[in-house]
Amino acid sequence: MIPITMTVPLILILLLHIASSVSSSDLRPGFYSETCPQAEVIVREVMKKALMREPRSVASVMRFQFHDCFVNGCDGSMLLDDTPTMLGEKLALSNINSLRSFEVVDEVKEALEKTCPGVVSCADIIIMASRDAVSLTGGPEWEVRLGRLDSLTANQEDSNSIMPSPRANASSLIDLFQKYNLTVKDLVALSGSHSIGQGRCFSIMFRLYNQSGTGKPDPAIDPTYREELNKLCPLDVDQNVTGNLDSTPVVFDNQYFKDLVAGRGFLNSDQTLFTFPQTRKFVRLFSRHQSEFFKAFVEGMLKMGDLQSGLPGEVRTNCRVVNARPSHLLLESPPHTMESNYKSI
Ligand code: HEM
Repeated sequence: MIPITMTVPLILILLLHIASSVSSSDLRPGFYSETCPQAEVIVREVMKKALMREPRSVASVMRFQFHDCFVNGCDGSMLLDDTPTMLGEKLALSNINSLRSFEVVDEVKEALEKTCPGVVSCADIIIMASRDAVSLTGGPEWEVRLGRLDSLTANQEDSNSIMPSPRANASSLIDLFQKYNLTVKDLVALSGSHSIGQGRCFSIMFRLYNQSGTGKPDPAIDPTYREELNKLCPLDVDQNVTGNLDSTPVVFDNQYFKDLVAGRGFLNSDQTLFTFPQTRKFVRLFSRHQSEFFKAFVEGMLKMGDLQSGLPGEVRTNCRVVNARPSHLLLESPPHTMESNYKSI
């Protein structure tokens, strides 16, 4: 029998181990091959069902990777619900009334908890599910690096200050992506994620009616497309009405880039990629060669997926809440963190 004097430090060590930390160099393909060999199949099956139920939902889940990884690394922080003591990221400026399909991640998590409880992190679920969203809709397939931990908290302020607005122009987007070691090519390729999914009238009213305070529409919009958008989003519209981000919104292909060349980009942040010379050449390249787009997109997703905060984490049992901790440990200082490659901005 273990003497009582030894059990307290043992429990402490165990709990500190659970709330350990991870750096991107620890991420690797097949991370769950021993602990949960069915993990990737389970995620894919739930994503397939989600796609059949509501095609847009897989695009909505894929967007999570961007909104998770850019805010303090890929740590599932944006999946946390608000608590009385913590404002989560779900209500941050870019996320409120916009991020959706959280229930798909819940469904994946429930299925995983049934088969291998406490093993697969919510942060990794986002990475696997995003990959599946792309390949299930006709895009490339790739091997993901896994082994992330879930954050112990979320940060609404950071999300507010980091996530770009739909009004953003290419030069501000280039600067933002550069802070994460993502190149101009990565930016353009990753924007190609808008090959699937929808956006709200809210996100384009300014460019239809008052671009840069001119009282006029964005001159970069093709006139026929502008008429279509004006019909979809008249001045008195309910701004939650949605439109397609490209003309093939349930197929992951390079049509998005063809649309940009034709002045038919939905968001200002999309069309600006064709207006600016530094990004235009990549828009042209991807519009002509889908294989170049797919290759660059996979590289970008892998790089974005490697962003880590280096902060301590855990494997949540419910993606919406951090695991319960014994009250005497709530005041403990956090465990030592490993070095991270996350570029703080
Ligand atoms: C380059 C900067 C980006 C900006 C400014 C941006 C902005 C936006 C905006 C404003 C929307 C529509 C939201 C709404 O109206 O409710 C949207 C949708 C979407 N974004 Fe982005 N985004 C960017 C990059 C990315 C990246 C890197 C990804 C993923 C890799 C991504 C994935 C998506 C998807 C899939 C949708 C459609 C979601 C749905 O249908 O629910 N975006 N984005």
